[in-house]
Amino acid sequence: MDSQANGQKAPFRNYPVSTLGDYVRQHNSSWRANHYSNKQPNLEWYQYLRRQADLENPPGIPYGKRRKPKPKPKPQNRTQGTMLYDDGDLGISKVDFTSPPVTLTWLDLQAKAPPKDKGLRRTIKKALCPWKEVGESKLLLKGVSGIAKPGQLVAIMGASGAGKTTLLNILTQRRPGTLKVTGDVRVNGTKMDRNINRVSGYVQQEELFIASMTTREHLHFNAMLRLNRDVTKEERIKRVDELLDFLNLKKAEKTIIGEPGRIKGLSGGEKRRLLFASEVMTDPPLLFADEPTSGLDGSMAFTICDAMRKLCNQGKTIVCTIHQPSSEIFQLFDTLYLLAEGRVAYFGSRKKVEGFFSGLGYVAPDNYNLSDFFIQTLAILPFDREASLERVEHICDEYEKSPLYAQHIGEARQYHEIDDDQSNSTGGIFHSSSKYKSSFFRQFRWLLWRSGIDMFRNPFQLRLRIMISIILGVLLGLLFLRLQYNQLAFQNISAIIFMLIINISFSTVQGTADGLSRQLNLFFKEHDDGIYHTIPYFVARFALELPVLGLSTFILGTIVYWMTNLYNSARHYFILQGILILCTIVAMSVGTLVGVSAPSPDVAVALVVPIVLPLLVFAGFFISAKTIPNWLIWIKYLSWLYYANEMALINQWEDVNSLECNASGNSTCFGNGTDIINYYGFSKSHYSRNLGLLFAIFGTCTLLSLLILILRAKFQRKTG
Ligand SMILES: Nc1ncnc2c1ncn2[C@@H]1O[C@H](COP(=O)(O)OP(=O)(O)O)[C@@H](O)[C@H]1O
Ligand SMILES: [Mg+2]
Repeated sequence: MDSQANGQKAPFRNYPVSTLGDYVRQHNSSWRANHYSNKQPNLEWYQYLRRQADLENPPGIPYGKRRKPKPKPKPQNRTQGTMLYDDGDLGISKVDFTSPPVTLTWLDLQAKAPPKDKGLRRTIKKALCPWKEVGESKLLLKGVSGIAKPGQLVAIMGASGAGKTTLLNILTQRRPGTLKVTGDVRVNGTKMDRNINRVSGYVQQEELFIASMTTREHLHFNAMLRLNRDVTKEERIKRVDELLDFLNLKKAEKTIIGEPGRIKGLSGGEKRRLLFASEVMTDPPLLFADEPTSGLDGSMAFTICDAMRKLCNQGKTIVCTIHQPSSEIFQLFDTLYLLAEGRVAYFGSRKKVEGFFSGLGYVAPDNYNLSDFFIQTLAILPFDREASLERVEHICDEYEKSPLYAQHIGEARQYHEIDDDQSNSTGGIFHSSSKYKSSFFRQFRWLLWRSGIDMFRNPFQLRLRIMISIILGVLLGLLFLRLQYNQLAFQNISAIIFMLIINISFSTVQGTADGLSRQLNLFFKEHDDGIYHTIPYFVARFALELPVLGLSTFILGTIVYWMTNLYNSARHYFILQGILILCTIVAMSVGTLVGVSAPSPDVAVALVVPIVLPLLVFAGFFISAKTIPNWLIWIKYLSWLYYANEMALINQWEDVNSLECNASGNSTCFGNGTDIINYYGFSKSHYSRNLGLLFAIFGTCTLLSLLILILRAKFQRKTG
């Protein structure tokens, strides 16, 4: 405040006390002076946040533009122990993306998993099977607290099942599933809730990619949609190059990402690095990583950890969980956060951890990897469960009594005590801003670009579908080659038309449902990351699927129509094609509805037959429309196959004026096409009604799917 009084030129100090920047300034000024002078010393938290929140910054040097190169800062006397590792390389961000420092604090986090059997089921189970164990609710995290400061690389370690991923998911506010979570997470003293993704990146364990994209294309897509609106195209491309360089991916930039067992592509290590690259794309001041090194060999693991270390040296805050770090990697961490059975066993400097454990009588043998030793000490051994639990309890209790604990908790608590304007409303200035970094149209455009590449590269999407259409068309054509119009042919003709409709409906519903539900996890992740909105995604998907499916229907219809010589008239041919394509569109919307509603791809595929089959039975081919029992008649009206079939048959027979009647005996004889239409219980007067109803089914299913997708993206909290 004093600087304001004497008018010192430091824009950081010009803002009122109620801003977030104020808090950082008050708490980190000495740190900033000592350690954060390497880039944009006068860039502010306030400006950064406004920029991330898509608000206009006050005039000045716009953030994100290049400035005059500054003389390299002189190496400083680093006395505070946060800078352990500095090889003089400042890592990425040759483009000025540097973000201001962030302190993450969490206080008293508890996560409770509900019991397996709840409510009535629980009571019944207890009453009927008293010998069976009834599931109890389980505390996964038992009130853990902590603080991660700028420039710190915090490593959360612990045996498998200790609650590391759970903690990280809670810190990032990601889909906690059925868990009941209490506690408080703050960024620079501000409650962020889900807005935290605007200042943070999260490298998740799951590798979700579009398999047919190349490394560069993947980053390009992210650069186009994740960076702020005011970043120019050149800067975006430059950023991609920079990341490829930084993570040593240049060699693999044109390699397809691939999918294990399906498409050969990037190696496991390259995929991890790519995942990492897309998360640091926006240069977030806060980064989370869940086991970024698992499955990598030693040198690859080191590359990733080294990258994190370099980012920390630039002033970022990084919290990662790590699995079996080598001694070399272990040296890169400043701070360890050891978890055991949902409690904190140690939280503090890496240098002091050995002292803490040996003080309790757990001395690591010589030449032993320290991290392995701690994890083993904190593991629950199945053959020695009681003793292990007791040991872990003891260590956690001792830690909670130690001055280290008091110090960290005290520090974290300070951040939770401030109660200014910013922390009252969750997300501070982010609260009311748009969540997405790019406009609707831009999102749509780049989603279209991505799906288009996927479609042309993926053999299963375009080529296979067209091949199948051709083969099936020729097969059906040969079966009913050159039909003659007589009393016997009418059944064949109806059969062909109905087979076309069935085939189109089944393959389209199944293909759409399967493809969509397989992509949903990626969609949820990217939606959570705030890359794009549901509507552009939905529309882009539809806009690309439609031509592909329409084309395969058109090819199938054309081959069959002219090989069998259904009716020698171009007008009838085009009307039939129109009906078939309309049928495709309706089937697509039904497939979409199945795809977005099903909990998994397997369920989606399994649902197709039970949904389509009844509709098919009532379409008027197997049962004449007149003989359907009254109480089941409603199914007929849901059946788009019925509408399409009726329209196609009317189109086929309406202009047939006379049919030769040479049958002997009692068999029915049709004098003209109208007789045949009547025989099926169809009527020409239904034509426009059917057309309207097909559009109505399409509209209802599409709107319903969109609604379900929006709701699922917003509310479904699946653990992932
Ligand atoms: N949604 C959930 N419901 C019930 N139990 C869960 C849930 N999520 C995680 N768990 C359990 O919590 C424990 C900790 O899980 P996790 O955080 O994934 O461990 P890790 O430290 O290996 O990452 C495990 O025993 C796991 O089975
Ligand atoms: Mg885990």
